[in-house]
Amino acid sequence: MNRFSFEEITTHLITSGFVYPGSEIYGGLANSWDYGPLGTLLKNHLKNLWTRHFVRGIEYNVQIDPAIIMNPRVWEATGHVANFHDPLVDCKYCHSRYRADDLIKDQKPELDVDNMQLEELNAEIQKGEIVCPKCGKAEFTPIRQFQMMFKTFMGVTEDKSSVVYLRPETAQGIFVNFKNVLRTTRRKLPVGICDIGKSFRNEITPGNFTFRTREFEQMEIEFFFKPGEDQKWFEFYKDNCKSFVERLGLRDENVRFRDHEPAELAFYSQATTDIEYDFPTMGWGELMGIACRGDYDLKRHMESSKADLTYLDPETNTRYIPHVVEPSFGLDRLMLALLCDAYDVETLADNDSRIVMHLAYELAPYTVAIMPLSNKLSDKAKEVFNLLKVDFDCIFDTTGSIGKRYRREDAIGTPFCITYDFDSETDHMVTIRERDSMKQERIPITEIKEYIRKALDSHLVK
Ligand code: GAP
Repeated sequence: MNRFSFEEITTHLITSGFVYPGSEIYGGLANSWDYGPLGTLLKNHLKNLWTRHFVRGIEYNVQIDPAIIMNPRVWEATGHVANFHDPLVDCKYCHSRYRADDLIKDQKPELDVDNMQLEELNAEIQKGEIVCPKCGKAEFTPIRQFQMMFKTFMGVTEDKSSVVYLRPETAQGIFVNFKNVLRTTRRKLPVGICDIGKSFRNEITPGNFTFRTREFEQMEIEFFFKPGEDQKWFEFYKDNCKSFVERLGLRDENVRFRDHEPAELAFYSQATTDIEYDFPTMGWGELMGIACRGDYDLKRHMESSKADLTYLDPETNTRYIPHVVEPSFGLDRLMLALLCDAYDVETLADNDSRIVMHLAYELAPYTVAIMPLSNKLSDKAKEVFNLLKVDFDCIFDTTGSIGKRYRREDAIGTPFCITYDFDSETDHMVTIRERDSMKQERIPITEIKEYIRKALDSHLVK
């Protein structure tokens, strides 16, 4: 299938109502985006699918919904307050702002930037060999460490004692509730705690549409188990993440698993794998990571809070701090990958063409569009809409020729269009048209639900 430019696809996403520029009537706000009606439906379907796959689908797992603003001591314990920095430089001429490590990576790929100390990065930047991508000059300010957590104040006073942070990851809401979940669910290890929610990072260089933003959604799991079983559960989640990504319908050639090199690993991690997607124009980008985190997080919280987060193993009657495997998905990135993968422009007969989003049926914003052939048939067609809306996301479309309406639905990925015509009044049948094949069939109104359910089922990658 053809690949289209990132710009062509994102323009389509904005004009058709998947995504809107944030605060648009005020001139926007630095790469912030709002999801429109189509994006919101797609996002909800994706969250549902993730929940069905990882929460309902894995007997050890439960889901919680912790607060975004947490006690600031959480972020001291995890090291975020001290270490969650990016190295920032400004071009002295045009004042463009960059991450120093990214600049060096792009212009000197032979250097092992991930393992360079701050002083080494600074020396490289000041050599006069790295140039500003915008103005071409090679003079930068010294590197400053930039704290990526958003800070705000809680309560009426705005002093040091009331500083709180917007969480930069959902994971810590899980770790601090580990004991609560074990106690209230009366579960034994292994236990997985899942969470979907917003995270915030004051990125220096947000960009590439919704790929890197300052406010984004994560779907994370912290999976707790007996130390020594790390490899087993790491492989378990690698397999599960693979089947989840397959279920989304992303094309194989655009997806890869990338194991981190030992030098890339955090000091507490035995192994990490990223799932990456080959985005049009921008190339491979991370969708999610699966990391072995050992006992790092629980240990830090134990030391800092003095709470006992050990687990008493009922089989061995010994106490230990559980180890953790963490599969962490970025919801917005996953959506962007899905939308890039689904976008297509097909040439049809008679020099005609159509934009079509080949989204998996269960993810498409609307499952069914109901179209009366004439406005005179609207009331009767509404009855069909009312019949189907209970089970499916439906849209009622009355404007333009049927051909135009088909094109509109193809362009937003609606798998089925149902036309109610003058014969429908007497034969109680409708024409149902499928998005990808464009095949049409006439079926009784009483059988539509069953027809669509079967089609949804057969379209599932299991
Ligand atoms: N708890 C581990 C953790 O947060 P991460 O690699 O920093 O790990 C996980 O983030 C996922 O969150 C990434 O793979 C990515 O999909 C998403 N993500 C991270 N920063 C993002 C940003 N600025 N914009 C959009 N998505 C982001």
